[in-house]
Amino acid sequence: MNIYRAIFLSFLIATAFVFSFPGPAFSKQFPDCLLCHKRKTDAKVVHPIIKESGCVACHTRPHEMEAKPQKFLFATGVDLCFTCHDRKKFTRKIQHPPVAQGMCLSCHYVHKSDNPNLLITATPGLCFNCHDKEKFEKKSTHPPVAGGMCTSCHNPHSSNIEKLLVSKPPDLCFICHEKDLYISDTKKKHHAPVLKGKCLSCHNPHASAAEKLLLKSVPGICFTCHIQAEFEDKYEHPPVEAGMCLSCHEPHQGDAKNSSSPIYQRSVLTATTRESSTGRTSIPLFQRECARSVTNPMRHRIRLCSGFRRPTAVCSATRR
Ligand code: HEC
Ligand code: HEC
Ligand code: HEC
Ligand code: HEC
Ligand code: HEC
Ligand code: HEC
Ligand code: HEC
Ligand code: HEC
Ligand code: HEC
Ligand code: HEC
Repeated sequence: MNIYRAIFLSFLIATAFVFSFPGPAFSKQFPDCLLCHKRKTDAKVVHPIIKESGCVACHTRPHEMEAKPQKFLFATGVDLCFTCHDRKKFTRKIQHPPVAQGMCLSCHYVHKSDNPNLLITATPGLCFNCHDKEKFEKKSTHPPVAGGMCTSCHNPHSSNIEKLLVSKPPDLCFICHEKDLYISDTKKKHHAPVLKGKCLSCHNPHASAAEKLLLKSVPGICFTCHIQAEFEDKYEHPPVEAGMCLSCHEPHQGDAKNSSSPIYQRSVLTATTRESSTGRTSIPLFQRECARSVTNPMRHRIRLCSGFRRPTAVCSATRR
């Protein structure tokens, strides 16, 4: 009699538990770990292997007091993870230090999380646990950085490319930016550092105190490679003196007046586009006319304006 009662009772208890815990897979195991360890799976994301094979996928010898290593696990550290996850993905040439040190759990929970990929915090907060947040939040911040999409450019584990990048600049940049706007066969002139893919010689990939992610504002950025003294003299062309290099030059590529000319001028198209988008002429007349009239690069600093109609005040001021 007692035996039947015991069997009946345990059947009742078992059924009750089957219906009170989510997902049939969790309940298939015996003994049901979740009877006592409820909190291990109550989150949006649960380690997929738990659904597939249950807790015993890792805790192979549950509650066996002699079990080694600790916590009834069949292995510890990365050895445990690499039993199922491809070690090669984590051991490429450049390794993120916390990964190289086997600290998977500095970024991941092993059982459950409310963040995708079992992360302890979503990016970029996760990254800012160890990296200085200030470097990534400046006057001009790259939208994917501001949006916390660090892993659109970096592999968080390992990579064959320096700085854990998913690909090298400029290809990295062309994942999102249209290549033709920067390096196009249809353009006659290409700025040497751009053509060589050295986007980072002018832009910070994350954030910058200067506009457009520039390492320095124009004209300072130009003078990191071009000799400033060559643009300075007693008489300077006012737009040059004012550092408005971009009123005459495109920074990346452009079409020159003729193929021997060492300049890529802002095209008429650029000027009209700007006009219509702002509703006013943002490139002053004199810049367009002067640019057309300059024939020698050294003309940045000498007389330019003979024969110019406008603006006369500026032109006479620069006349020698
Ligand atoms: C009858 C209740 C009960 C069931 C069922 C149960 N456990 Fe436990 N377990 C406990 C208690 C109590 C502890 C000790 C307190 C704690 O760490 O939560 C514990 C501890 C553990 C620990 C930590 C050991 C350590 O060294 O810190 C692991 C791992 C564990 N259980 C895994 C499992 C797994 C896997 C299952 C299912 C196969 C399971 N438990 C089923 C009650 C239970
Ligand atoms: C992918 C492998 C893996 C699976 C599957 C897994 N665990 Fe764990 N578990 C671990 C690791 C690794 C630790 C040690 C974590 C640490 O040291 O912080 C751990 C620790 C524990 C502990 C003790 C420390 C703590 O966090 O309280 C308990 C209890 C536990 N697991 C229960 C479970 C239960 C219940 C399940 C099934 C729902 C489960 N585990 C499934 C890997 C796993
Ligand atoms: C510095 C933090 C960090 C460390 C340390 C880390 N991860 Fe990750 N892991 C991430 C991030 C972030 C993602 C999400 C990647 C994405 O958004 O594409 C991820 C994704 C994953 C994924 C799922 C996607 C994939 O690449 O297969 C697995 C599996 C994974 N990590 C395993 C591990 C293992 C194993 C370790 C230890 C060897 C580890 N991680 C260490 C941050 C980390
Ligand atoms: C027993 C096998 C097994 C072990 C051990 C294991 N995993 Fe997994 N893990 C899986 C499977 C299966 C998936 C789902 C397929 C995939 O993403 O590879 C997964 C997925 C993941 C994911 C992605 C989760 C998501 O949201 O898509 C992360 C992160 C992860 N594992 C981290 C770890 C870490 C860290 C360890 C070591 C502490 C570990 N795993 C140990 C089998 C395992
Ligand atoms: C647990 C601490 C920790 C977390 C979390 C972390 N990192 Fe790191 N990371 C380091 C350490 C330590 C270094 C090496 C020193 C340094 O460059 O600051 C490093 C270096 C790097 C490097 C340069 C690698 C190289 O080859 O020079 C990149 C890129 C990087 N981390 C990206 C990330 C991203 C993206 C995240 C978030 C997904 C992140 N880190 C989260 C600790 C961490
Ligand atoms: C648009 C692509 C891109 C995004 C998005 C991005 N990075 Fe980077 N990151 C780079 C490039 C490119 C470098 C290499 C810079 C160099 O070599 O001068 C780099 C370098 C790093 C370094 C190495 C140290 C340094 O400053 O040179 C760390 C750490 C880092 N990134 C973390 C992050 C974190 C954290 C995020 C998200 C908040 C993030 N990155 C988002 C492209 C990116
Ligand atoms: C994951 C997508 C992504 C990648 C990769 C990426 N960018 Fe961007 N970037 C954007 C978005 C989105 C904007 C804002 C829209 C726009 O101006 O096209 C932007 C804007 C910019 C701006 C203008 C910022 C401002 O203040 O107006 C510069 C400069 C820039 N990116 C340079 C780069 C460089 C250099 C690289 C390669 C190292 C790169 N980007 C890679 C998405 C990306
Ligand atoms: C010689 C310096 C220099 C190099 C090298 C350079 N840029 Fe720029 N970039 C600039 C300047 C200056 C601006 C600001 C243009 C403006 O305000 O009209 C700019 C603006 C941008 C913008 C903002 C939108 C736009 O087109 O005006 C993006 C995106 C951009 N650059 C991407 C790149 C990429 C991708 C590379 C590499 C292929 C690159 N840059 C290389 C100087 C440079
Ligand atoms: C990273 C170095 C670097 C930076 C920064 C840089 N340049 Fe250049 N620039 C060069 C090199 C290299 C050449 C090719 C010189 C040669 O062929 O003699 C060049 C050539 C030029 C030319 C002549 C192009 C031609 O078709 O011959 C102009 C105009 C020019 N740069 C303008 C600028 C302006 C404006 C800036 C600032 C927005 C700037 N540069 C910033 C490296 C740079
Ligand atoms: C008023 C228009 C104008 C402004 C503003 C201007 N440039 Fe020029 N620049 C020219 C013209 C025109 C040429 C080429 C003349 C020719 O075709 O021989 C030129 C040629 C160049 C060259 C290639 C020849 C050389 O001197 O090496 C460089 C580099 C250059 N400019 C850089 C700059 C920088 C840097 C600034 C800002 C400090 C700047 N320019 C401002 C019109 C301008």
